[in-house]
Amino acid sequence: MKKGNVAVLLSGRGSNFAAIVRSSRADGADFTVRLAVSDCGEAAGLKKAARFGIPAHHIDPALFPGKAAYETRLCELLEREKIDLVCLAGYMRLVGPVLLGRFPGRILNIHPALLPSFPGLDAQAQALRHGVKVSGCTVHFVDSGTDTGAIIAQQAVAVRSGDDVERLSRRILRQEHILYPRVISMFFAGRLQIAGRTVIISE
Ligand code: GRF
Repeated sequence: MKKGNVAVLLSGRGSNFAAIVRSSRADGADFTVRLAVSDCGEAAGLKKAARFGIPAHHIDPALFPGKAAYETRLCELLEREKIDLVCLAGYMRLVGPVLLGRFPGRILNIHPALLPSFPGLDAQAQALRHGVKVSGCTVHFVDSGTDTGAIIAQQAVAVRSGDDVERLSRRILRQEHILYPRVISMFFAGRLQIAGRTVIISE
C-alpha cells in the first residue's frame, strides 16, 4: 500500500507535529511525515524535526514581497516532496489563495477549543473568561478564514474549577495529540467526505 505524504506547517513548539510523527511510525500507519516547514526560524518544532530525522525548512515570509510569493515558494517545496496533505499545527498565519488553490480540500488545522466557539488566539483563555464548563479541540478543513473551515472531529474536555490557562491547555493538548493523528488516518483511508459545511465520516 502506498502511504500518504504529509507536511506539517508550524510556528512554535511542535508537540502536535511530534504526535503526528509518532503515530506515522506506528505499525500499520497509512501516512508518512515527509517534512516540517516553519515561518519562524526559532520554532522549537524545527529542532524536533531534526531529532526525528525529518527534513525541516524555515521559509521566512519577510524575504518575499507578499503572501502570494511566500506561498508560491512553500508550494514548490510541498509539490517537490509530493505532499498529499498539509497539516497546520500551531501555524500562526492565515492561509492565502495560493496555498488553498494548490491543495483544495487537502489542508487541515487543529484548534484548542470547540469551534465555532473561541476561534483565533488564546482560545483556552477565551473559554475560561467565558466560564464554559466544557471546552476541547477541533480538527477542521482550512479555508480562508480564521478557524472557520468545515469541522471534521472534536474532542470535549471538561473545564474544572480551579483551572487556569496552563492546566486547561495541558489537558486539551493531550487530546489534540490523539485526535489529530486519528483524523489524518481517516483522511488517507478515504473516510472523509465534504458536503457543504458538513464532513461525513464513513465507517
Ligand atoms: C495547539 O494548541 C494547537 O491547537 C494550536 O496551537 C498549538 C500548537 O501547539 N493551533 P504545538 O506547537 O503543536 O505544541
